[in-house]
Amino acid sequence: MKLPLILVNFKCYEEATGKNALKLAKICEEVAKKYNINISVAPQFTDLYQISKKVKIPVFSQHVDAVEKGAYTGHVSPLALKEIGVKGSLISHSEKKLSLKEIKECLEIMKRHKMVSIVCADSIIRGKEIAKFAPDLIAYEDPFLIGSGQAISRVKPDSVKNFVESIEKINPRVKVLCGAGITSGEDVKKALELGTKGILVSSGVVKAKNPRKVLEDFAKAIS
Ligand code: G3P
Repeated sequence: MKLPLILVNFKCYEEATGKNALKLAKICEEVAKKYNINISVAPQFTDLYQISKKVKIPVFSQHVDAVEKGAYTGHVSPLALKEIGVKGSLISHSEKKLSLKEIKECLEIMKRHKMVSIVCADSIIRGKEIAKFAPDLIAYEDPFLIGSGQAISRVKPDSVKNFVESIEKINPRVKVLCGAGITSGEDVKKALELGTKGILVSSGVVKAKNPRKVLEDFAKAIS
């Protein structure tokens, strides 16, 4: 996975659903190309197929279940995502939390399918537990700052720095992203200064009047 990364989580926002999802994914692709930076998108399940076929930037799922194949009604398997060109998945976002046992099982299956795993953690204690399972990336997000417009990198810099250092001690191969409340290039710059390898963002881009402008601001902070 190329880093640093800006991962745009579309959640279930109307501005990023169906036709709007494709339009936003195209904007992400154009900005990534123009500034030569890594932007990935995480649309809803129902938009994954169309987007993974129509954009060249990496496409992630917002969630995946710890199931291989077989009788698992209503689940979404890593294999099914891989089949349609999805590169990897967020796992255990605070809005779709999994137990540590489920996370571990999910990672084992995803590794077998060579998919990129980004596990979310809401505390340093949980991050350290997750790091033992060796995901590709851990995204540190404070649930209280999600959607707040108050960037975790600026409101809780010490906490982000401690998170990065704690994970590095357990497994230096696991890279850290941070997210929650990020809306500007300054927020992104600060996140990178604190040792993260990128950011996870949603409302700051999806709900912006001009998502392209926000993404360009992020891009300038990175490049
Ligand atoms: O997954 C991204 C996230 O939870 C942060 O959301 O809206 O604060 O950028 P937001």
